This record gives sequence, structure tokens and C-alpha cells, in this order.
Amino acid sequence: MTDTIRQHHTQMAFMDRDHEAAADRLDRLLELADQGRDGLAAAFREFIEHNRAHFAREEGLMARMDFPPAAGHKAEHTAALELWEGALARLESGELDAAALAAILRDEILPAYSRHVRTMDSLTAQFALRAGVVDEAAEG
Ligand SMILES: [Fe+2]
Ligand SMILES: [Fe+2]
Repeated sequence: MTDTIRQHHTQMAFMDRDHEAAADRLDRLLELADQGRDGLAAAFREFIEHNRAHFAREEGLMARMDFPPAAGHKAEHTAALELWEGALARLESGELDAAALAAILRDEILPAYSRHVRTMDSLTAQFALRAGVVDEAAEG
């Protein structure tokens, strides 16, 4: 299900590791949502927090170089976190059930994540490599 995330490599090791871990969490989340099982909200929270830390690592990398699209990249992170927090709140309030969340995960969250990796993240990684910014410096 999350192959569209896994199959794209940015050439920056920390990004690829983080994206792989995000795909693992998203697969788990889809499994729980499809089965309508307990722990869905907790798994969604874990997905959000993993990515909050991941986004901070990418933003730390961008802060270390003069990267013109940095603000646009960061804005996509902020928008994603807001969207996910909104969906989690609706799940917790009962406004969304597991099936509705599964649809949002498949139709909105997964394609948007995949698109972000292929565009903003890949561009950022290429720029950092050309600028000679080392991967390790972005870990933390
Ligand atoms: Fe990103
Ligand atoms: Fe990323």
C-alpha cells in the first residue's frame, strides 16, 4: 500500500530512513483502520509525532543552507500536521469512524505524502548534496 513512499529514494540517508519508518506506521494504521480495531487513535498519534520529528530534521537541514524554496517546503509540513491533527480530533470525537479514516488515509494522506517525498524532499536532498551539506548534520 505504501510502496509509492518506499520506492522513492531521496539520496539522503536520514530522509529515506524516516520515510521508510513513516511508511511502516502508515501501513499499521491502515491495517487497524480496515479492521476497525482498538488502538487506531494511538497509532495515528504515533504517525503524527514520528513525522513531526522528521519534519524538524528536514527543516534543520534547510536552515543550514540557503535554499530558496525552504518556506514552501516548511509550509507543506505545517499544512500536513494541521490536516492530520484535524482528522485525529474528528476520529477521537466520533465524527469519523475507522472506515472514514481509512478512506482519508488512502485517498488523501498517502498520495500527499508520496507527492511531497517526490517533490519537496527530493529537491531539498539534491540541493543539499550539491551544496555539500552532509547528511549526518541533519540528524538529531
Ligand atoms: Fe519534507
Ligand atoms: Fe520527508
